[in-house]
Amino acid sequence: MSEPALERAGDYVLVLNGPNLNLLGTREPGVYGSTTLAEILADLETLAGTADPAFRIEHVQSNHEGILVDAIQTLGPAAVGIIINPAALTHYSIALRDALAAVGSPTIEVHLSNIHAREEFRHHSVLAPVVLGQIAGFGPDGYRLALQHLMARHAVACEATR
Ligand code: DQA
Repeated sequence: MSEPALERAGDYVLVLNGPNLNLLGTREPGVYGSTTLAEILADLETLAGTADPAFRIEHVQSNHEGILVDAIQTLGPAAVGIIINPAALTHYSIALRDALAAVGSPTIEVHLSNIHAREEFRHHSVLAPVVLGQIAGFGPDGYRLALQHLMARHAVACEATR
């Protein structure tokens, strides 16, 4: 059976990227690869638009914790879901965790690298208990997998309200 079409015009997934992810492409390519953030976002937009031309990506990248908290508070509640790569904030930002918990939108935490195979301080995520799940170690594919899951989840929710 084919998946039901996404329905509500104006639907969006909020994609958040934390500190230093603006440097993707040149930042430690041996760890994070050579794909730029702009390329990752273009790919997500194509994927979302293929499912439904009205479906869109809202994106905020910031090197500042408070800007990401603001984005969760303002754009999070109406989002179909949130994809967040909190970068270094993963490991210590109670403020981001509290914002995600307060908003309650389904959230997937993404990491390009396998944080569990790296330095010990990267093994722990303070956000993990308040997100649906975590995808780590698949490079840019992690964002695609997260978007596919959120869109499929949304399609099921739309179908249930028919
Ligand atoms: C990262 C992993 C974090 O530990 C690191 O601080 C980052 C990127 C990743 O995508 O693999 O900036 O979130």
